[in-house]
Amino acid sequence: MNSPVLQGLPLNPPAYVKNAKLIAWVADMVALCKPAAVHWCDGSVEEYDRLCQQLVDAGTFKRLNPAKRANSYLACSDPSDVARVEDRTYICSEKAEDAGPTNNWKAPSEMRATLQPLFEGCMAGRTMYVVPFSMGPLGSNIAHIGVELSDSAYVAVNQRLMTRMGKAVYDVLGVDGEFVPCLHTVGAPLAAGEKDKTAWPCNPTVKYIVHYPETREIWSYGSGYGGNALLGKKCLALRIASTMGKAEAAATGGTGWLAEHMLILGVTSPQGKKYHVAAAFPSACGKTNFSMLVPPAGFNGWKVTTIGDDIAWIKPQADGTLRAINPEAGYFGVAPGTNNVTNPNCMASLNKDVIFTNVALTDDGDVWWEGLEKDSGQWPAHLIDWQGKDWTPAIAKETGAKAAHPNARFTVAATNNPALDSAWDDPAGVTIDAFIFGGRRSTTVPLVTEAHNWVEGVYMAATMGSETTAAAFGQQGVVRRDPFAMLPFCGYNMSDYFQHWLDLGAKLTASGAKLPKIYTTNWFRKGADGQFVWPGYGENMRVLKWMIDRLEGTVAGHDTLFGITPNYNEINWTGLDFSESQFQTVTELNKSAWLDELKLHSEHFDKLAYHLPQELSVTKEALASRLNALA
Ligand code: GTP
Ligand code: SPV
Ligand code: MN
Repeated sequence: MNSPVLQGLPLNPPAYVKNAKLIAWVADMVALCKPAAVHWCDGSVEEYDRLCQQLVDAGTFKRLNPAKRANSYLACSDPSDVARVEDRTYICSEKAEDAGPTNNWKAPSEMRATLQPLFEGCMAGRTMYVVPFSMGPLGSNIAHIGVELSDSAYVAVNQRLMTRMGKAVYDVLGVDGEFVPCLHTVGAPLAAGEKDKTAWPCNPTVKYIVHYPETREIWSYGSGYGGNALLGKKCLALRIASTMGKAEAAATGGTGWLAEHMLILGVTSPQGKKYHVAAAFPSACGKTNFSMLVPPAGFNGWKVTTIGDDIAWIKPQADGTLRAINPEAGYFGVAPGTNNVTNPNCMASLNKDVIFTNVALTDDGDVWWEGLEKDSGQWPAHLIDWQGKDWTPAIAKETGAKAAHPNARFTVAATNNPALDSAWDDPAGVTIDAFIFGGRRSTTVPLVTEAHNWVEGVYMAATMGSETTAAAFGQQGVVRRDPFAMLPFCGYNMSDYFQHWLDLGAKLTASGAKLPKIYTTNWFRKGADGQFVWPGYGENMRVLKWMIDRLEGTVAGHDTLFGITPNYNEINWTGLDFSESQFQTVTELNKSAWLDELKLHSEHFDKLAYHLPQELSVTKEALASRLNALA
């Protein structure tokens, strides 16, 4: 076959690339973006090492001291490019109401007209990497294929750790298989002969993260960071996938499926009984931590294993069970706060083969971030911070400068995780026994509650609030409604998404299935001193065990206005000094705080009025009357 040639640039797809639609699309995008070269990634170790060396040569990567951190690198980004940009993220459905009030919307034709000139020649002077990847085990009927075209070698190597990336994807894709086209550019074209002036090219002022849900395309401009650039993650596996799951229900009249911002863990009792839990916490609210939990003293024989730390794809099966897979193959996790006390499994995952972004560099060529002083018992005397500046404890004390950016991250393959579940790569997935929804709330919301039924659980998830974190650009620490922890990730109208959850529950119930229980958690309640009251991390096992006891029917808890809450004596306290009055502080439901909270629920529902399921309004009214009846 003759290779198409554009502007004198031979495409030269390898012989194993046989998908005509893919080759034609690459040719079109080459014509548009005008890269200096095209590199078809094969996903091999040699290719990874070569691209990493190239990034070292370009100054983007610093190779870490191999004696300290084998085969690992540090990248420091442009200070304008450190997190997802929610205000630059668009859902371009034909109708505004299909994107809904929680998403930025532009008509596809209008957005295409905006993006076309921006992408024109956007890769000039750079190599376009063709990155084929599978979200989910290769060939699994739950999996989907994406192909990302990117002018960032950083993206290509990160995608090799984060996804099943490489040659084998083309075997599954075949001659006419479907894929989601994902186009990405850092938005910094080079003039003829021009060299990069920065080690982190990006566009400091123009950024667009654009989704066309109906045609299932992703176009990302201007950022090289995380979810803005690794397009398999939030863009494909959540925004596009959530619309696929809903569209399938509409097309087939069946349940469809769910794409969720959830970790998946397995928890095995000393008797060998295994449960699977999927938990939705907003960004930087503890998913990675919880998915790798090490049970504390008093839980001998209990084991927690990781299936996924960020995203779950969940499909109802003919037998009524909900089977879940982790579409990813690696972790892009928050570094600050991670240490041997908070997450020892994660620390062990980071010994080798890691890409760190925006952490600090030690004088002996290792990495450092805030939180590691708890392991060593001391602060390092000197560091180079994430912006390349000198850092000392004295400077930090004086200026408050952080050595690592609060949204600094590591990229590591799941196979590095000592707690990896044996079924993590099983194409059939695992059966979900319980869902957890947990926001970050200093006040009001109790440590744990269980919804009385599916509809009440959906209500709790739909009205979840959380204090914002550094995982997204913008103001931090303000409470916003983050329904299902999906506010920045739902690819369609939020109220339609609530309806999808309700319909799925109703259809499964009608078919005689037993639905998973739904819980809410809040690890983040603070005391009068402003400190977290609940110890969190591994101690969260105590709450997880109570949930399992509820599944087994061995504890009753007691009814509150917001679901069923544990009695103090139903929690295993062995090895932890946590008084009944402290427990009271984290579980208390305060009437006046809840009157305020309910007002916020009402405002939230007012914003979501279009297509808001009536069952949720009814549930709110029931909650309000329970509240008003309280003394
Ligand atoms: P994304 O990758 O952004 O989706 O975040 P995530 O949900 O995986 O959050 P992660 O586990 O990385 O935790 C982020 C922050 O929450 C870190 O600063 C942790 O130290 C903190 N954290 C996690 N679990 C707990 C907990 O149980 N209690 C408290 N107080 N903090 C926690
Ligand atoms: C999140 O913000 O929820 C993340 C990080 O998991 S990113 O991949 O940048 O979206
Ligand atoms: Mn996340």
